[in-house]
Parts: sequence; structure tokens; C-alpha cells
Amino acid sequence: MEDKKLIFSGIQPTGTFTLGNYIGAVRNWGPLQDDYNCIYCVVDMHAITVRQEPAKLRQNTLNSYALLMACGIDVEKSILFIQSHVKTHAELNWILCCNTQFGELSRMTQFKDKSKKHPDDINAGLFTYPSLMAADILAYNADLVPVGVDQKQHLELARNIAQRFNQRYGDFFTVPEPYIAEVGAKVMSLQEPSKKMSKSDDNPNAVILILDDKDTIIRKFKRAVTDSEAEVVYREGKDGINNLMTIYSSVTGKDFKSIEAEFAGKGYGDFKLAVGEAVADHLEPVRTEFARLIQDKAYLKECYTAGAEKALRYSQRTLNKVYRKVGFVDR
Ligand code: TYM
Repeated sequence: MEDKKLIFSGIQPTGTFTLGNYIGAVRNWGPLQDDYNCIYCVVDMHAITVRQEPAKLRQNTLNSYALLMACGIDVEKSILFIQSHVKTHAELNWILCCNTQFGELSRMTQFKDKSKKHPDDINAGLFTYPSLMAADILAYNADLVPVGVDQKQHLELARNIAQRFNQRYGDFFTVPEPYIAEVGAKVMSLQEPSKKMSKSDDNPNAVILILDDKDTIIRKFKRAVTDSEAEVVYREGKDGINNLMTIYSSVTGKDFKSIEAEFAGKGYGDFKLAVGEAVADHLEPVRTEFARLIQDKAYLKECYTAGAEKALRYSQRTLNKVYRKVGFVDR
């Protein structure tokens, strides 16, 4: 690989990506490919920390892989692979679990939230989820990790694990930095704008899926919850409008001042329609490219097989060194 900084990021294949995944993370991944060595991953092993239907997981994983390509990840420039194809992630995870404290894992808000949501299945994998995420990142000694705000706490833990390992065994891991966009790092639900937009929301109107068709997208934006004023301005207390402005800004490149000027004197109806149209038009090429790619299973297989080979070669070198450092006998 060229002598550039290394980027790693991943996404769970638990359904079609939301507009939150897209704006907060995935859309930023493509443009990074020219300036960094980039490694991106569909994290199917993370997905099974909550119960998945096997056939659906397989389909969602393939869809997610194709969708990342449709969102601009170029397999000639980046390494793009499926997590379970690269065994070093699970192997490194074990070592990192042994360097992660029970107390640290207990403090993770995602663990607490998901435990509440699935009280009948608070499994050990859900608990150690952040160690596996640290393994994903540290296996490649990534410098930067582009994520949305909700992953910041996990990343902080990955940094702590890296630092602890370095202290115990001598400097080895790069301590990764989060790379969080200024605008759009937390896209909110369209129905409860104080909550993040999430795939697992029970209300379909709260979430834009990036493969939703134009009419559906516009309809969901029309129903978006706002406030009782009638002013399109970005201001504290206007969560719904702030969220719509953030989304509009992300897909059009306009700043808040010019959005305020554009909609001065106009009602929320006009604004919501404009946001819906802008989002649908922005996502149109993604939908078209996805439809093309997903037809070509042989090509997808070629891509993810080659991606896994590259990722394994790279991460195996790291793992061999880690095994030596912790005192395992050379094979
Ligand atoms: P996941 O699959 O939940 O989300 C993928 C990416 O989308 C971002 N995101 C959002 N950004 C803005 N607004 C939202 N409403 C929103 N919802 C999701 C997430 O922050 C994330 O960047 N644990 C990770 C996957 C993972 C990973 C990794 C990430 C596994 N290993 C290593 C980075 C590095 C997750 O569940 O993301």
C-alpha cells in the first residue's frame, strides 16, 4: 500500500442503510479514497449480537456490500470486504477481550440501550461488541475512523484498549482517531427529532432508507415532525427544523444562512417538499447503481473474495506480531 494514512470503517448489514448511515458515515467514505489508504467492511459478525434470521442476514450482507459500492467505494482504490471472511478479526478480538475491563464494557450506552430493547437476549457477544470493533480497527493499525457521533464512545474504548496493550506489551498499536463530519454526524428521526435516526425504529415514517423511491421519500419528509412556528431557521429548540436543514445542507452543499434566505417567508410545507426532492434526487444515482450491481452476483463475489484476501494478508501480519508480543509460541 502507498505511504498514506490509513482509514478503517465498518457498517452493520442489518437492513438497507438509512439516510443517517449515509450522511453521517458512508457518503464520506468515497471521497477519502484519494487521500488515504481505505479499508471498509460489512460487519456481519457484529450483526449477530442481536438475533438475525440467517437467510435475511446473508441477503442483507450482499446488499450492503453492493450498496457500499453504489455509494462510491471503488474496489480498485479501497479494500472492501465482509468481516466474517477474515478470521483475524475474531482472533484478535480474543486478545483484546483479555485487555478490556468488565467495567468499561458495562458503561457502553449502546450495550445498555440494546439490553433494554432485547431483555431476553443479553448475550456475551453484545457485551463484548466494542472489543470486536477495536479488533477491526487495530488489526490494520488504522489512523482514522470515519463514523457518526453515536460510535464515538466505542471508538474511545478502542483507543483505551490500544493504549493499555501498548503499556503492557510495549508500543505497538496505532491509537486511532475518530473522524467525524462537522455537519450530519447525527441525523435525527423524522418523527421524534430528539432521537437519532435508526434502522431499528418501529415507525417507518421516522426513517429514510437510501433505497426508498422518490414518492416514499417525499411522503416521509412531508410527514416530518417540526414545531408550531413557521420559520426556517437553525436555532436551539427547533430540533425538527434543525434536522431538516442539516439534511438539506448535506445533500445540496448549501450552508444554513443560504437555506434560511431561500425559505424566508415560505411555510414548512414548501421547505419539507424541497428537502424531500433534494434527497430523492441526490440518492437517485445510488439506487440505479445498486440495481445494476446486485444483478451481477458473480462480479460481487469476485470483489468480496479479492477484498478478503487483501484484508487477511494485511491483518495476519499484525496478528502474528501480537501473538509474539503476548507470549504465544511461534508455529
Ligand atoms: P452502524 O452500522 O450502526 O452504522 C454505520 C455508520 O453510520 C453511522 N450512523 C449515523 N450517523 C449519523 N446519524 C445517524 N442517525 C446515524 N446512524 C448511524 C454510525 O455512526 C456508523 O459510523 N459498530 C458500528 C460498526 C462497526 C465499525 C467498526 C465502525 C463495526 N466495526 C470499526 C467503525 C470502525 C455500527 O454499528 O455502525
